[in-house]
Parts: sequence; structure tokens; C-alpha cells
Amino acid sequence: MTANKHFQVYLTGCFAAIGGLLFGYDTGVISGVLTMSDFLLAFGGTASVARGSLTSTVSGSIVGIMLVGCFLGALIAGPSGDRISRKYSIVLFSVVFVISALLQTASTNLFILLLSRLVAGISVGALSMLVPVYQSEIATKKIRGRLVSLQQWAITIGIAVSFWINYGTDIYYLGSSAAWRIPLALQIVPALILAVGILFFPFSPRWLMAQGRDDEALLVLTKIRSTTAVNVLDEYNDIKNEINLEREESVQSYSQFLYPPLRRRLCLGVSIQVLQQLTGINSIMYYAPEIFKQAGLNDQRASLLATGINGVVIVLATIPAILYIDKLGRRFVLISGACLMALSMLIIGGTMGTHGSTHYNETTGAVQVIIPNRTASFVIIVFVYVFVASFAYSWGPTAWVYCTEIFPLSMRSKGTSLTTAANWVTNCIVSFLVPAMLESLTYRTYLIFGFLCVAMGIIIYLFYPETKGKSLEDMDLVFGRSILVNNSSRTKKRMKSMNGKTSSHSQSNQIYYF
Ligand code: BGC
Repeated sequence: MTANKHFQVYLTGCFAAIGGLLFGYDTGVISGVLTMSDFLLAFGGTASVARGSLTSTVSGSIVGIMLVGCFLGALIAGPSGDRISRKYSIVLFSVVFVISALLQTASTNLFILLLSRLVAGISVGALSMLVPVYQSEIATKKIRGRLVSLQQWAITIGIAVSFWINYGTDIYYLGSSAAWRIPLALQIVPALILAVGILFFPFSPRWLMAQGRDDEALLVLTKIRSTTAVNVLDEYNDIKNEINLEREESVQSYSQFLYPPLRRRLCLGVSIQVLQQLTGINSIMYYAPEIFKQAGLNDQRASLLATGINGVVIVLATIPAILYIDKLGRRFVLISGACLMALSMLIIGGTMGTHGSTHYNETTGAVQVIIPNRTASFVIIVFVYVFVASFAYSWGPTAWVYCTEIFPLSMRSKGTSLTTAANWVTNCIVSFLVPAMLESLTYRTYLIFGFLCVAMGIIIYLFYPETKGKSLEDMDLVFGRSILVNNSSRTKKRMKSMNGKTSSHSQSNQIYYF
């Protein structure tokens, strides 16, 4: 099917991706704001001594409290997505975001700032789970990966835009509170657009049917699918069958995750999100200016510029995922991404280890690796970009895509909320540990991430079944009996038959509880 045949679905998916924009912008904006002189004066630092002179406890709290909020938001959003719908939950948490952004902008003391960062985190965490679930439920199986990848793309755009806005206001309003208040205020605009605009888009047809609102669901499917009435009815019947089956055989509570078949899927979902963070992406995204400084870009502007380029690289490198994830499949993308990231991290760590010398900075007390060799610096900078690009086309989008695909309808919102919470909690731990690791282990930090990436490739190869091209209702069959990915010819034949025209749901019914 061509893109224009999916016009309605793309439009809805793109619009919902504004949630990703808020995610990226709000995460990215703070790193720049934390170095602005007026901000440092307002919140306890001394701008005249040195840029970036807030105590590490204060700056750590400003960054960390948002991650705690994200974790909480992801957990709250699960039940909310089921109860008041994916759509109204997106409205609710966008409004919460607007309130938090107003508070951040108007902050006059540290308490209000921390409170507003916590509230911002709650809404970002919630949206990071609701948006991909909503996108995956309106998508057709052929473009589901692509549609959910749009949210990752929006995250990266948000990060890049926030960086350049910070860069601009810092130069233009140097020394005035406008330098940091404007970037914080600007995020209100997309949040308002999302809160109001999403009301004009449909409810998730799958959520509608789970509420017994079948007629409305059929209407939505007919409207957003530019296909024949027979195909719409096929999809409608598949969803209906799954709902009936789930009603007969399950209670929709979190305790179901403790038993087969959902236990395995939860383990896979939680692990993929934990592993996404263990790639070390945020050791680069959050500390990029520092890394570039170590690699020889000593001038503050040069290292900030290199960080800005980093933002552009991640945006551009997410585009192949949008274009090809549904063709190449989740496994290929994840395994190849893990290999390239491993290679990059090992080269970065190895080059720092062999060419760098460790220095103790007496003023700040920090331990730093300095790279005097120009070629070595160049290699490190290039491989930072290669690493970021490899993450962008692979683990960035696919971890989110995979989690929205693996749970049955009645447990999708709850399951995705747990996997998303796992992402945020690991993000929080890694971000907290990385500065200490960089100080005590220096270049070995990157070697550790490199080895973790190798392990990730192997884990995906062994345990993660391919979900490309299967309808959400067919996942029971995909996650059949074996814990290891089964590549036997019998399994492949069964999988092939699932891509046929007739629904495989009746087959999946038989193995639902293995
Ligand atoms: C990750 C974030 C990361 C971002 C970078 C997301 O998929 O979950 O932790 O900062 O990608 O683009």
C-alpha cells in the first residue's frame, strides 16, 4: 500500500508524536539551562566564578527529579490509558505538562523548580508510554514499526531543537533570566497543540472495542483504513475474537504478569528497555559537551557546537528506521545496531585508553582524560557520532516499538506502562552512575558499555522473536512455546501461514496459555 492510502493513520501517528517532541525537548533543554549564568545565580551557583558552578547535588537533583517523575508517570499512565482511554489520557498529561512548564518558567526558588521538574517528569513519563501504545493500536500491521518510530524521531527532534534554542537565547540574552525562561516557556506551545488537537483525532479502535463500543470502533476503522470493507471487517473480527478470548480466560490484573504466557513477554519487554539504557546512549546524550572537551575541543563554544551536530546526527539517523524497520524486521535492526554500537564504544574506550593521559583538576577536583593526539581526538569524535547514529536507527525506536506489540489488548496499557517505567528507572540509575564511573574508571566506562552492547546482540538473537508484519492479535502465536527463538522450519512455516489473508487468530487461541 502506498503512503497516501495510509494518510489518516500517518496523520494521526504524526500528530500524537508531538508527545515525543515534549519528551525530547524537556529532557534536552535542562542540560543547556544548567550552564546559563543567570540560572546559576538564581538557583544558588556563582556565575562569575565559572559556568556550570551549581553544586553537583543541586544540578543532579534538577536532572534526577525529572527522571523520578517519569518513572511515576509511566506507572500511573497504564491504568489511566485503560480507564479514560489512550486519547483522553494524552490530553490529561499534556495539560499536566503545560502546568509544569508554566511553573518551570516562573520558578523563583529551587523548591518550585524541583517541584515543577517532578510534575514535568510525570507527564513526560506518561506520554512516553501512551503515545506509542496509541500509535501501535491505530496502525496497520504493515506500518506499525514505522508509525511508532515517529515518536522516537520526535524525541530526537525535541532534543536537537532544545539545544539550538538554548544556544541562541544564551547568546542573545546573555546574563538575563530570559535566556533560560524563554526555552522553558516555549515548550508550552506544542503541549497545548497536543492537548487540544488530539481531541479531533479518533479513539484507538482497539480500546473502543475493549469497552464494548463496537459500532464506534468499526466507524473509526472504516474512516482510518483506506481499504476494502472486507479487510476492515477482517481486522474488526480479529480484534473482536481476541477480546472475547481474553474475557473468557483472564482477569485483567497486574498479577497475570507473574504467570505464563505474559511473564515471558513482560520479561522481554522490561529487558529490552533496560538494555536500551545500558547501551550507554545517555552517557553520550547527557555528557556530550564533556566528552568532546576531553577529546580535544577545549573551547566551550566548540564543544557545544559538536554537541549540536550530535543532535542533528541523531535526528537524521532515525530516518532509516522510519523507512525500513517494517521491511528489515526488529531482530535485524536490533542485532546490527548492537554490533555497531559495541564497535564504536570499544573504539572510543580503546583510543582513550591508549592515547589519553589522566589529569587531576585541582580547582574542581575532577579526574579527566586528556587526548593530546589529534588523530586520536578525531577518531573519538567520529565514533561518538557513529555510536549515536547506530542507536538512532536501531535501539532508539525499536525498544519502544517492540514493547507496544507484545502484550494482548487487555494488558497492553499495563504491560507497556511497566516496560516504560523500567526504561526510566534504568535511565535514572545510569545517569546517576555515569559521572562517578567516568571519574573512577575513565575510558573503561566506554569499554563496559561496549561489552554490554555485545551481550545485547546475543540476547536478541537468542530470545527475541520477530514481530514484523504480524497483527497485534497474532502475537500469541509469535510468542509460542519456546523461550529461545525457534528458527525450525516448522515454526517458519507456521509464521508464513500467518501472513496469509485469512486470520490466524483461531490458531493462536489454541496456544494462548503455553
Ligand atoms: C531513550 C532516551 C534517549 C533518547 C535519545 C530514547 O529512546 O529512551 O533515554 O535519551 O532515546 O534519543
